[in-house]
Amino acid sequence: MSTEPTLAWDDGAIVTLDQTTLPHSRTVLRITTVDDLIEAIARLAIRGAPALGIAGALGVALSAYRQGAEEPVRRDAARLAAARPTAVNLAWGVSRALGRLAEGADAVLAEATAIAEEDGRVNRAAARRAADLLGELCPRPQLRVLTHCHTGRLATGGWGTALGAVHHLAAHDRIEMVFATETRPLLQGARLTVWELRDAAIPHRLLVDSAAASALAAGMVDCVVVGADRIATNGDVANKIGTYPLAVAAARHRVPFLVVAPESTIDQDTPSGTAISIEQRSDAEVTAVAGVDITCAGTPVFNPAFDITPAKLITAIVTEDRTWFPGDPDTADLADQIDRFSALVENFPRPGVRFRDLAGVYTQPRALRDAAHALVASYRDDFSHVVAVEARGFVLGTAVALAAEKPLVLVRKAGKLPGTLRSVNYDLEYGQDVLEVQESAVPPDGRALVVDDVLATGGTLSAAAKLVTECGASVAGFGVLLELAGLGGARRLHPHRVVALRTDVS
Ligand code: MRU
Repeated sequence: MSTEPTLAWDDGAIVTLDQTTLPHSRTVLRITTVDDLIEAIARLAIRGAPALGIAGALGVALSAYRQGAEEPVRRDAARLAAARPTAVNLAWGVSRALGRLAEGADAVLAEATAIAEEDGRVNRAAARRAADLLGELCPRPQLRVLTHCHTGRLATGGWGTALGAVHHLAAHDRIEMVFATETRPLLQGARLTVWELRDAAIPHRLLVDSAAASALAAGMVDCVVVGADRIATNGDVANKIGTYPLAVAAARHRVPFLVVAPESTIDQDTPSGTAISIEQRSDAEVTAVAGVDITCAGTPVFNPAFDITPAKLITAIVTEDRTWFPGDPDTADLADQIDRFSALVENFPRPGVRFRDLAGVYTQPRALRDAAHALVASYRDDFSHVVAVEARGFVLGTAVALAAEKPLVLVRKAGKLPGTLRSVNYDLEYGQDVLEVQESAVPPDGRALVVDDVLATGGTLSAAAKLVTECGASVAGFGVLLELAGLGGARRLHPHRVVALRTDVS
């Protein structure tokens, strides 16, 4: 892959390739005025969120060298920042460069150059992290990745975000196929992603945007990886139009959907996707292809450049610093709800026993759904069966099995199940009992997530785990709404993992 910088400073000019003429012709732009830079950004000759950040900063340097006073530079900077409203990186780069204006034009240029250098480093780190995560999420040795728009070298400071992850996987021989969507209307996928993949000799196939859902439905894709133009603090993501339908289809077919972006794309001033302004572009981009009209003259057009993908549809957002699972339920809020909707009943079911009644949580559909999703998210795909313990565990178990789309296995008290059974005696907090499971319900190669409403002494759950292992299967771990930590249940279940959505220490 070329190591040329995407945007270079050369003797008072910004030098870059015109991204609109690729792949057929290689046009080098030498931009010497802010107006020309704004024009290049507006027509997408320079594009891609991180590249826009660098361009914005270099634009402030252009202005700082040309204008004598600070005020006109600030006016240029405001115009530059507004050249494309959705990608936060543009305004971010402009503002970082402006922060050095008082030190003079050289300092502004130094800041812009630093942003460009950082971006290369940051991209590589995010891409590597995303590639590692994909390796964990997708079991195949070689992956079939679908990507949208163009997130590679020219869209960034020189390595790429989502496409950077693809390069990283390819370097480790982990790519079987990259599906590149055309990305209507300006075809960044067909023109730029394909060009970059071909240059890197990475196997690829082009598809029209509307074929992506069919590819997902046909099981042709292991993961979807895209970039971002702005990420809200709740994890909603603005990216190239067509990203949202991809995320819907990926969720429908349970295919991981990753967003790879630098931290600078996360806008701390934007709480959710509804606050993101979506750039609307000209009708001509839709009514003509490569300069040829394709529809009736004067046809009204809807041409948003970006859409918003809600956090709930995103498996993970990967930056240089972290992996964020924005769709996972808010566990602090869940713990509060479990506390609020549970009751402490003294001397039940017999004198001296303090009973934690979690039936109230089951009256809250959202709390129950979020609890199930939180448990599934905690174990990702590390289990094949949900094993639920009679009776309140059946309710949570059903919700978890539905959320994970995995089979549910019932562990019942003695005498309730027909067929060939495994059974085990166990100690209760207040007595003794027998638990049973149908042997055929847990296959020997199964891996069980064992769930119940409450973890007290751990007697019931360890008995359920024993049933699982007696069937020849393994235990992935335990999931409960509430752990009464004072009773030492988690110690008893050691070394298995225990996920309790709320822990009571009293
Ligand atoms: O209109 P564009 O081509 O600038 O849109 C680009 C995208 O949506 C990219 O996915 C995003 O900027 C990330 S580029 C690393």
